[in-house]
Amino acid sequence: MTIVLQADGTAAFPALVLRPWDEGDIPTLIEIYRDPVLRRWTRMPVHDEDDARQWLQTHQRGWTEGRQCSFAVLEAERPVAHILLKELVPGKPSAEVGYWTAADARGRGIAVRALDAVSRWAFETWELERLELLHQVDNLASCRVAQKCGYPLEGVLPARPPFPKDGHLHVRHAGQDPEERPLHST
Ligand SMILES: CC(C)(COP(=O)(O)OP(=O)(O)OC[C@H]1O[C@@H](n2cnc3c(N)ncnc32)[C@H](O)[C@@H]1OP(=O)(O)O)[C@@H](O)C(=O)NCCC(=O)NCCS
Repeated sequence: MTIVLQADGTAAFPALVLRPWDEGDIPTLIEIYRDPVLRRWTRMPVHDEDDARQWLQTHQRGWTEGRQCSFAVLEAERPVAHILLKELVPGKPSAEVGYWTAADARGRGIAVRALDAVSRWAFETWELERLELLHQVDNLASCRVAQKCGYPLEGVLPARPPFPKDGHLHVRHAGQDPEERPLHST
């Protein structure tokens, strides 16, 4: 069964549809990954079609094996962001989230709205007590997304390759939604 999620629009920007990535997204993935900021902060950069196919297969395998769920976030039918739910292990009370937004789609609340939709779905679907979100200390945009999406800062972690600086650990607990549902930010 294909999982499709939705996030409301804002006064200024359209609603979002989240669905698994597929073959037809490969040209878009290659285009989005040209952005050096995105390459800096992701573990699995995509440079060409081979990389994109490998990236896609990794994420499709994650769904098949039940270890991770990755979503293409569509705005007006165009993939503009990626949300990953990973470290899903039967009986383990926590999992981890990750995300990016295409350079030309940033600043529209896409990451916050899409991450909130996946976080709610994850808590409804698995018996999770907490979702963890890690970013390097100087990734200020990611820190802001975490705070706005109900993931307060819980600690600082030592640097872990491939990232050279310490990291922030943010956690969203089951039943603790953001104070204000982040659907109407502009
Ligand atoms: C982090 C990222 C996903 C945010 O995506 P986005 O769709 O633009 O996020 P949103 O619009 O939902 O929210 C971004 C928030 O961060 C703020 N922000 C953006 N750049 C910022 C910066 N350099 N410093 C501080 N805050 C910043 C925005 O103002 C916004 O907050 P606001 O709504 O209160 O104004 C995007 O910048 C990105 O893809 N970066 C590269 C990949 C990455 O870092 N992924 C996370 C790895 S842990």
